[in-house]
Amino acid sequence: MKVLGIESSCDECAAAVVENGRFILSSVVATQIPFHEAWNGVVPEIASRKHTEWIMTVAEEALKQAGLGPDGIDGVAATSRPGLLGSLLVGLTFAKAFAFSRGLPFIACDHMLAHLYAPRLVHAPEQETEFPPYPFIGLLVSGGHSIICRVEDFDTVTVLGTTIDDAVGEAFDKVAKFYGFGYPGGVCIDKLATKGDSGAFRFPLPNLHKGSHDYDLSYSGLKTAVINQLEQFRIKKPASDEAEKANIAASFQKTAVDILLRSLFRAVDDTGISTIVAGGGVAANSCLRSSLASRKDLHCVFPPLELCGDNGAMIAGLGYQYLARGETSSLNVSASARVSGFKRKYP
Ligand code: KG4
Ligand code: ZN
Repeated sequence: MKVLGIESSCDECAAAVVENGRFILSSVVATQIPFHEAWNGVVPEIASRKHTEWIMTVAEEALKQAGLGPDGIDGVAATSRPGLLGSLLVGLTFAKAFAFSRGLPFIACDHMLAHLYAPRLVHAPEQETEFPPYPFIGLLVSGGHSIICRVEDFDTVTVLGTTIDDAVGEAFDKVAKFYGFGYPGGVCIDKLATKGDSGAFRFPLPNLHKGSHDYDLSYSGLKTAVINQLEQFRIKKPASDEAEKANIAASFQKTAVDILLRSLFRAVDDTGISTIVAGGGVAANSCLRSSLASRKDLHCVFPPLELCGDNGAMIAGLGYQYLARGETSSLNVSASARVSGFKRKYP
């Protein structure tokens, strides 16, 4: 079964064709970064307008690269939540219209479940590796969300912990914006940090691990410390301007990752589940990837770099799983800015 996946929840206009929920036949991601760069962040109005201009061409290109015409598709999937409403509506409405006009089954997908699905995708059968069996611990880290969860199936997730304020990607973006490190913040800080000393500043970890906050996260304290009270956390003498920037980036990044890992490892210890599957834009972070790789007692699965950020392939792959189970969505389904259907439960 070949599924066309459409993703337009934020600033990537993306479409892909995936076969049997596993093999990527094509994946086209048209990024809007140059249009948002001047504002150091995504401008929702610009995002939805660009999606409207591009979606048709992007979908056509995905079909073309897969060597298919519209008749070669067996189903259409699109992100319906969470994300920017105006942007979501463009891809969702396009996908519904495509499915309706060709008499194809349509399925609406949750963007965060799709991020979790991304590591299951490969380009060719020879790249196939065994995907870990359920249950595993999910680490969902993006610009809008930071979620540590217990994953029982592709659509059954229990949230163990989440951020009580900023998402981790948002903290990277805000720190980068303040210091003028560039956009998107996470990518720029990751690169700059390679030249810096992560021990130059010691920023505080949030004090949250009490009561029902066992696995929760917080980034507003770190963000404030890095932006407003830098001098207070300095542990080495000021360096030259360029080295200083790299030191700030490296120290911030190390602390941001430590905050994630502290809650993640607590969840691993308490649940006894030692397999972790990561997803979302921040899963591309080199410090996070190397820190988890060094834990030889854990089985950590990351998507390839090109599937960490938003893409249509993860939507097509996830959509296939529902369609294979005989489920479709109503063409009346609406977009939603928020995650839904994730159960919040503390063990
Ligand atoms: O999943 P994604 O592409 O979009 C959302 O669903 O939000 O994630 C985007 C986020 C942004 O905050 C971006 O700065 C961050 O992922 N990001 C990174 C890296 N690459 C992207 N954060 C840290 N290190 C990276 N290498
Ligand atoms: Zn995303």
